[in-house]
Amino acid sequence: MEPIIINNKKFTFSVPFEEISLAIKRIADNLNSEYKNKPNPIFLCVLNGSFMFTADLLKELTFNCRVCFIKLSSYKNDSTSGKVTEIIGLSDNIENKDVIILEDIIDTGLTVDTIFNLLKNQHPGSVKIITLFFKPKAFKKDFNIDQIGLHVPDKFLIGYGLDYNGLGRNYKDLYEMTE
Ligand code: IMP
Ligand code: MG
Repeated sequence: MEPIIINNKKFTFSVPFEEISLAIKRIADNLNSEYKNKPNPIFLCVLNGSFMFTADLLKELTFNCRVCFIKLSSYKNDSTSGKVTEIIGLSDNIENKDVIILEDIIDTGLTVDTIFNLLKNQHPGSVKIITLFFKPKAFKKDFNIDQIGLHVPDKFLIGYGLDYNGLGRNYKDLYEMTE
């Protein structure tokens, strides 16, 4: 595989799509047995990175489910001038519902930790966390991750939804930044 160059940085082939696809099938199999007899859960696709994972995973599911596309956003609160983080795009009422967060990659864990804590204010019935990729060496939080697709090296990755400065999301394989 040819390396990919983005903004003078070189990315070399890392994980083939076939391996990613098998990991997604494993996640889907587990969900299909778990939710067979449970009412319709709501999947939260964390944009932008998780769009490809969400699309490929949901095609493998054999139970009724909802999907919502969310983003984390920060704004300045006038009275305190402090930065407030909020979830945007969550149009469904999640009270007493089973919610499943779909993240592309968990690195330090800060993003998912923030989403998890914000969701709790809306009193969901349950919240599960599924990540396609996980960097165990970078993880700094202690929340439980319900399903992990693949463990990946502590390198900057692009492809399969992951970007570098907005580029690289389109590649189906994963590439890692190299010097
Ligand atoms: P965390 O908050 O440190 O866990 O980082 C999570 C977010 O950072 C992910 O949702 C990605 O959007 C982004 N991210 C983390 N590692 C990478 C990477 O290797 N490539 C591209 N984006 C990444
Ligand atoms: Mg992300």
